[in-house]
Amino acid sequence: MRILVTGNLGYIGPILGKSLKNYFNDSYLIGLDSGLFLPCLSSSERIGDTFYDKQIFKDVRDINISDLKDVDVIVSLAAVSNDPIGKDFESATNDINFISTINLAKLASQSSVSKFIFASSCSVYGKAGNKPKIESDPKDPLTAYAKSKIGVEEFFKENKIENLKIICLRFPTACGLSDRLRLDLVLNDFVTSAVHYKKISILSDGSPWRPLIDVKDMSKAIIWATKYDHGQINSPFSINVGCNEWNYQVKEIAAKVKNLLPNTNIEINKNAAQDLRSYRVDFSLYKKLAEEFYPKNSIEDTIEQIINHVSDLKLPINGFRDSNFIRLNHIKNLKRKGLINNNLRWI
Ligand SMILES: NC(=O)c1ccc[n+]([C@@H]2O[C@H](COP(=O)([O-])OP(=O)(O)OC[C@H]3O[C@@H](n4cnc5c(N)ncnc54)[C@H](O)[C@@H]3O)[C@@H](O)[C@H]2O)c1
Repeated sequence: MRILVTGNLGYIGPILGKSLKNYFNDSYLIGLDSGLFLPCLSSSERIGDTFYDKQIFKDVRDINISDLKDVDVIVSLAAVSNDPIGKDFESATNDINFISTINLAKLASQSSVSKFIFASSCSVYGKAGNKPKIESDPKDPLTAYAKSKIGVEEFFKENKIENLKIICLRFPTACGLSDRLRLDLVLNDFVTSAVHYKKISILSDGSPWRPLIDVKDMSKAIIWATKYDHGQINSPFSINVGCNEWNYQVKEIAAKVKNLLPNTNIEINKNAAQDLRSYRVDFSLYKKLAEEFYPKNSIEDTIEQIINHVSDLKLPINGFRDSNFIRLNHIKNLKRKGLINNNLRWI
């Protein structure tokens, strides 16, 4: 089976490559990425990258049908991957996350590809209150990033794409280890801050709901989606992927970290503007359909693993929020050096 993963040189890609290779003996993995975060390594080697049999350095906006030759499955990860970048680079976010994803699916439908797995986000629920959201509940995307994700899903629903099984995985906020660790993700941020600076700064009043998922469980879900026999369930098909037990409010996430690192001081910013993004999500459908792949580990396991991984990281003395482990910082640095333009294209 030939699997093309776009955006494989980011946070999820290295873990996904290893998981796919270990699970499918017959897999041939092709990675395609523009390489924006290639040097943002949190371990000394690009271990996860080596699980890809072939690497294409290309912008996903420039993919053509020859890149899809003999490919069976596409995993679409390439994206502007968070709200802050989406805010500063709104037009590029729309081009990369929305337009190019749709174009890729259309190309796929004219090729050998039979399955298209799209990395969507639970942020499509936006300001969702306390009741856990199921897949068919109303969406309230509040940011360019969330709008791009639900835009793709809605396009797939409204426009029949022939010869292609499409599955949209609505992931919560990721956490856990990767060769290209991101520290702009809430649990990774809190643990790193607690380890290096003995404090956690919550940028809101701590009340928003933020379900989490370990990046290893995201990879497992992509394996499940690859195998999933759509049977009577129509394509496209959108599903919340995560576990009900990992629905937390931000202040609870901080408390979980403090339980394991008791010397941590938690600072809540009482004057912060209200963070409207708050969603509690119901993952029962995923539990029912994907029981074997449903996350089973505790959040404490993930926290311990992050503690071990980040303890040796070299970080700026005044805080890691200036470091290249924050996606927006790295993008701004590339731009300052004249290496990329406003469209997030290499110059
Ligand atoms: N990390 C999370 O918490 C999370 C949660 C839900 C959904 N997702 C989705 O999963 C996917 C992967 O997330 P991630 O955390 O690994 O993000 P990431 O930013 O670490 O990786 C994204 C990758 O896409 C590549 N990319 C960006 N623009 C590109 C372009 N124009 N052409 C080719 N490659 C391009 C980047 O170089 C990078 O390697 C994204 O679609 C993201 O929206 C992530």
